[in-house]
Amino acid sequence: MTDRPAPLRGVRILLGITGGVAAYKAPELVRALGKEGALISVLMTKHAQRFVTADALRAVTRGLVLTDLFEPAALTDGPWFPDTPKSSLAYAHIGMAREADLLLVAPATANLLAKLAHGIADDLLTTALLATRAPLLIAPAMNTAMWEHPAVQENVATLRARGVRFIGPESGELADGEYGMGRMAMLELIVSACAEVRGSGSSPAGAAGAAAPLRGRSIVVTAGGTEEAIDPVRVITNRSSGKMGFAIAEEARALGARVTLVTARTTATAPAGIATIEGMTVGAMRDAVLAAMVDADALVMAAAVSDFAPAAAAKTKLARTEKGLTLELSATPDILSDVRKKFPKKLLVGFALETEDATEGVARGREKLKRKGLDFIAVNNPLREGSEFGSDRNDVTLLAKEGADVPLGLRPKREIAREILLRVAAMLNGNR
Ligand code: C5P
Repeated sequence: MTDRPAPLRGVRILLGITGGVAAYKAPELVRALGKEGALISVLMTKHAQRFVTADALRAVTRGLVLTDLFEPAALTDGPWFPDTPKSSLAYAHIGMAREADLLLVAPATANLLAKLAHGIADDLLTTALLATRAPLLIAPAMNTAMWEHPAVQENVATLRARGVRFIGPESGELADGEYGMGRMAMLELIVSACAEVRGSGSSPAGAAGAAAPLRGRSIVVTAGGTEEAIDPVRVITNRSSGKMGFAIAEEARALGARVTLVTARTTATAPAGIATIEGMTVGAMRDAVLAAMVDADALVMAAAVSDFAPAAAAKTKLARTEKGLTLELSATPDILSDVRKKFPKKLLVGFALETEDATEGVARGREKLKRKGLDFIAVNNPLREGSEFGSDRNDVTLLAKEGADVPLGLRPKREIAREILLRVAAMLNGNR
């Protein structure tokens, strides 16, 4: 953990800060990015300065902190970043925009999103945002009603379609004391997202993957539904397709991890090129997972594991009888709890499949998180439209030991996987 490479080493980040309350977190964000090796210069809007001062930002970065298109420092010839020479580009909005590897706006207000979606450039930050060809990452933060306003959602869709990446917002307690969607993403997630944007960027340095947040990590993922024999022919199983676990395994590999996949019965096609061990029954899966965890940093337990198994499987096929059949089932071992007992410090993520309504489902998820000693649990409901068994999408609410629930909404399983794994990376890399 200690000698891992700083994922943003030498990456020039131009940070835009707009006038949301979350702007007060900007100095902490600059420090977190700097800790990962980034070189940061800052552009602040007029309203951002109501929440945090330019001097506070100057105290935490070696880069420039500018606020106005026409302030003297914005009209000189740089240097625009700590490692760049003075340039012939005598305007900050052009020089910074050209020399940055990544533009990050955090927090981004509804106003900033609207201006950017429509190409308005009426201050230093919005002008720089139009003058850049570097990737753009946005961390919105605003009141729930504002975030949900159709105009804001349309602007977000427009920007996404143009290739702008978003991180957050999250749900939780907002500045006005209300609970809802709109809080700026956790700083460590913003840092991981910067690393990810660099890792998947088009520049050769980025593609080389210095930024993959799970590089050097080993992750065990389980997928599918277990089978327990009733007799040599019949089994107790469930409707899990394995798609969620497969998406997690693929995304973990894309983020740089070494992945071991432990699969039970699946109906989807397994990802190619990932080390896979079969663990059909709860017992077999338990043994495979415990063995694989010896060398692993984290476990994501997406498999649907049977909670009950026939007390004893019949040796021969049970014959049909007129009076029917009563099966005696006993509880299976809880794999996650056993892994926690054996590896008290490793990072464990569980899934809680709940068919109750959302509030009850989340409450049960919280109880499981605690009882099984997990770091995160992803609560999902296959009875909800769009996230049925076998679907390519899922509707998940993430719960951590600390902090508010994070409803991720109905999204492709691969995106859900990324949200989970970026949190795993943030935790493993000590950013929380
Ligand atoms: O208690 P419940 O089965 O709902 O918990 C779900 C989570 O626990 C899932 O991550 C599942 O993979 C895991 N699990 C387990 N061992 C079991 C049953 C479930 O690890 N016997």
